[in-house]
Amino acid sequence: MGDTAEWSWCSLVLSSIGSITVVYYLLRWSWQCWQGFKAYVLSEIWQTDLRIYGQWAVVTGATSGIGRAYAEELAKRGLNIVLISRSEDKLRSVSKEIESQYKRQTRVIQSDFTEGHSIYSAIAQQLEGLEIGILVNNVGMNYTGVLANFLDVPDPHQRITQVINCNTLSVTQMSRLVLPAMLERGKGLIINISSEAASQPQPMLSLYSATKIFVTYFSRCLHAEYRSKGITVQCVVPFVVSTNMTHNVPVSPLVKSAASFARDALNTVGYTTYTSGCLTHALQHFALSIVFPGWLRLSSYCVQRMAKFANSIEPQLREMMAEPKNKQD
Ligand SMILES: NC(=O)c1ccc[n+]([C@@H]2O[C@H](COP(=O)([O-])OP(=O)(O)OC[C@H]3O[C@@H](n4cnc5c(N)ncnc54)[C@H](OP(=O)(O)O)[C@@H]3O)[C@@H](O)[C@H]2O)c1
Repeated sequence: MGDTAEWSWCSLVLSSIGSITVVYYLLRWSWQCWQGFKAYVLSEIWQTDLRIYGQWAVVTGATSGIGRAYAEELAKRGLNIVLISRSEDKLRSVSKEIESQYKRQTRVIQSDFTEGHSIYSAIAQQLEGLEIGILVNNVGMNYTGVLANFLDVPDPHQRITQVINCNTLSVTQMSRLVLPAMLERGKGLIINISSEAASQPQPMLSLYSATKIFVTYFSRCLHAEYRSKGITVQCVVPFVVSTNMTHNVPVSPLVKSAASFARDALNTVGYTTYTSGCLTHALQHFALSIVFPGWLRLSSYCVQRMAKFANSIEPQLREMMAEPKNKQD
């Protein structure tokens, strides 16, 4: 009799825990689906008018890939564009194209973000007098061509500084430059491009994934600090986009073209401040988080397995990427 009572208590407790867990996940997934529906479906129909933030948008790394696509899409939506990159020739050609195609004004600033602190006073001078409503902190570089262990790149001493300057210092310093005037006007939008590579430690992409989680945390903190003052800081976390950085891997249901990625990602402004940027990338993120929940992906076991896996596919990847097809200028 005693045993039966104990057993029925046990089964009651276990079935209650089970039901609560099921209800918790159903509510959580329903909430995520609703948020996703707003950000990626409704946003196709009702888009935020980006001109409310100000007349000018600044885009770093604006001559190819995602940065160029953001610059073009912002111009299409009525903003004047400041393009910042290393190559004067490419800057002139993109600026000409935007002016003739979208009839917006442009300015170009030639700057190399790997150089560190020294470049920002010149950038500040060239931005003076412009009503900057939007900053897109897009510029970024990988530590290695494909995958590599930390010391297995030529001249790691220099490369480490370059990657940190380009991927993290640029985001903080550019934000520092534009924020004061945005605060004075009580409005502004800063878009920071992080990466899905930041969603967990990525062995053989160690410095890249570490700089990208910096971008994610910095964006979320900055948004919390300044949202009450009219500033939105959006963190964009893409999967694979076909650009020079990804050796122009062909566009597919999983891989977005830069133009379509930038269009979808800009649609999400006003709906979310942390986004995969587009529906297909959000679904990939969702599927990954179900198969490998956060606690599992962050576990040392999983990170060790990732390292083994990365090591095993590195030779094939290197072979595939031996002749990078840099199609986009
Ligand atoms: N592609 C992807 O699948 C992917 C996925 C997740 C996140 N991301 C992130 O998205 C951002 C853009 O990536 P992307 O794939 O579009 O790269 P990309 O095609 O290599 O373009 C990089 C842009 O930045 C400029 N640039 C590079 N180094 C620079 C430097 N030191 N100083 C100034 N400008 C520099 C390049 O122009 P110049 O050569 O003329 O300077 C180019 O305009 C990066 O932050 C990247 O981490 C990309």
